Amino acid sequence: MPVDDSTLLIPKQPNAGATAVFRARIGWQGPNFKAPASLPLLQAAELAGQPLTGSCRNGTCRDCMCQLASGKVVYRIEWPGLSAEEKQAGSILPCVAYPASDVVLLLPS
Ligand code: FES
Repeated sequence: MPVDDSTLLIPKQPNAGATAVFRARIGWQGPNFKAPASLPLLQAAELAGQPLTGSCRNGTCRDCMCQLASGKVVYRIEWPGLSAEEKQAGSILPCVAYPASDVVLLLPS
């Protein structure tokens, strides 16, 4: 029987099915963890036992905001709660940011 994919609960996403697994590091000398392209960085950090600060997990509260010191991330939502200036300055929201390369995150002190 054919599956009507309009009823699937899993949203279609730009990097759905991505199988790449990158490394994420917290700070230049800090711990690192596996960061699959299919998981937001916050979730990957939690699974690796390196929890990051976060609250809403949907890109609105900004509790998780940190700096992307190295690497590249992508978002599945158009407006991830950051101004254009913040994005330009390297701020990311790891609860909704998916790695597109190895990344280094600088957390607020
Ligand atoms: S946890 Fe709220 S914006 Fe990331």
